[in-house]
Amino acid sequence: MSGIFGLKEQVALVTGASRGIGRAIAETLAEAGCDVAVTSRNAEESRRVAEEIGRARSVRTVGLRADVSNQESVRGLYLQLCTWSSDRLDILVCNAGYPMRPEIWNTPLHATPPAKLAAWYQEVFNTDALGSMLCTFEALPLMMSKRGGRILYIASTPALEGYRGAPYTMAKAAVLGLMRDVAREYGKYNIRANALALGNIRTPATFDQLDKAGQEALAAEAPLRRWGAPEEVGKTALFLVSDLSSFVTGQVLVVDGGTVRR
Ligand SMILES: NC(=O)c1ccc[n+]([C@@H]2O[C@H](COP(=O)([O-])OP(=O)(O)OC[C@H]3O[C@@H](n4cnc5c(N)ncnc54)[C@H](OP(=O)(O)O)[C@@H]3O)[C@@H](O)[C@H]2O)c1
Repeated sequence: MSGIFGLKEQVALVTGASRGIGRAIAETLAEAGCDVAVTSRNAEESRRVAEEIGRARSVRTVGLRADVSNQESVRGLYLQLCTWSSDRLDILVCNAGYPMRPEIWNTPLHATPPAKLAAWYQEVFNTDALGSMLCTFEALPLMMSKRGGRILYIASTPALEGYRGAPYTMAKAAVLGLMRDVAREYGKYNIRANALALGNIRTPATFDQLDKAGQEALAAEAPLRRWGAPEEVGKTALFLVSDLSSFVTGQVLVVDGGTVRR
């Protein structure tokens, strides 16, 4: 079955893969035959998760530390990656996201404390948008020299429709802008770029932070009347980075149980 994806022995880098959605994507790609590099800011966790993913499957894995919001740290990540993969990178998944902080996510612009205004916007932007750009910057030369690659960006439905707190909306909308530029400019190198706009996905960062009433209220928002599972995101990601979507680039695929319908 894994043959239909065209991913056997390809090298994938997944940022923010030590838990939640990133981990599920890394597991799914390993299942489909990819060698996978797992990264987060925690070296020990990245190594532990990489080992667990590799142990259960016959693929190579490595756990590396990087802060995606820091250019030097991302450069260091790619130096280690290139040593491990002999300069090969077929798939990049820009998943690392700023930790869910309800006060930033849920405070409308006019109610933001003035002393926090710039900081809140910059903090989220630096991880989600700048981080995606820095990782893409390092990935492009590797993909261009091999004339091929796929980049998947993890955005969110607020980037399409807005939400209560603007910092997250703005950062994820910037990620979509980056995706469109990359798709347009690097298609001639056979590099495809797409994005997922996620709705409510059940991870420790979201579901586990809410009481029962909060969990149920968000489930009720979606026509499917439930939260999505990280594994469901993993399967959709697999579609967009595999041969199953070989003529698809520059697109946003909404994974939210039907709340946003376009
Ligand atoms: N869960 C949802 O409902 C939902 C909805 C829409 C979009 N999303 C997006 O999906 C992605 C994953 O979300 P999640 O719920 O799985 O989050 P999560 O459980 O908080 O996991 C985030 C991952 O990113 C890493 N990370 C955070 N900041 C980083 C940085 N500066 N550099 C490198 N790694 C960093 C974390 O590890 P360390 O903290 O150890 O670095 C962790 O591995 C995010 O981009 C999020 O915005 C999620």
